[in-house]
Amino acid sequence: MKIIKAKDYEDMSRKAANIISAQVIMKPDCVLGLATGSSPVGTYEKLVEWYRKGDLDFGDVTTVNLDEYRGLPRENDQSYYYFMHNHLFDYVNINPERTFLPDGMNDDPEKECARYEEVICATGGVDLQLLGLGHNGHIGFNEPGEFFEKGTHCVDLQPSTIEANKRFFASADDVPKQAYSMGIQTIMMAKKILVVVSGADKAEAVKNAFFGPVTPKVPGSILQMHPNVVVVADEAALSKCTLPE
Ligand code: GLP
Repeated sequence: MKIIKAKDYEDMSRKAANIISAQVIMKPDCVLGLATGSSPVGTYEKLVEWYRKGDLDFGDVTTVNLDEYRGLPRENDQSYYYFMHNHLFDYVNINPERTFLPDGMNDDPEKECARYEEVICATGGVDLQLLGLGHNGHIGFNEPGEFFEKGTHCVDLQPSTIEANKRFFASADDVPKQAYSMGIQTIMMAKKILVVVSGADKAEAVKNAFFGPVTPKVPGSILQMHPNVVVVADEAALSKCTLPE
């Protein structure tokens, strides 16, 4: 695991976008695993900026997203489908038919999870998976628990996650209580993983996930076992860790 210290959110976003750009330049038909949340917004902004400058071409890229709220239609501005279009897909030359997310409106969790695993498999596998880190150490919507969930599954969101995400909704009652999420094994099968983390409020999660024991109680800690992980974290997020000089 390589940890890159960024000065602040802006610096983290630029560094992360550079890593994704390198992936797209090296393999124009790559498969990107994408994430939502506030952490990657700045990264997507940079990618859009560099696409507009002519430095990037998404024409042959395929994307698979980590997760989606269950029960939110695509048009809902808090759906992850909406987020991805609003922050990236609508502003670059990506083929919409090669952008995949779980279908939050499929009411049959078993069928939807199996379908999404097949979608990921059919892409040939994720080359670079972008991740944020939840305050409780979650990745995607893999919440802390007694064991690591393997494949795509339907999750009951924890009260702390509903609390953290209510800022995007009118009230906590409006936050969906469930989501479809790639599992830990799905995520770990990506060839490379890039984690972006920013802010002092994530410092404890960073310490637990990347410097503590590997445990399903901190789902992000499993990333310590992956052979090719880069964490780009800003100084505030790293404030509870001692990095080797
Ligand atoms: C959300 C998402 C995750 C995200 C995390 C952190 O609930 N499901 O994919 O990485 O929580 O979000 P943020 O970046 O807004 O702190």
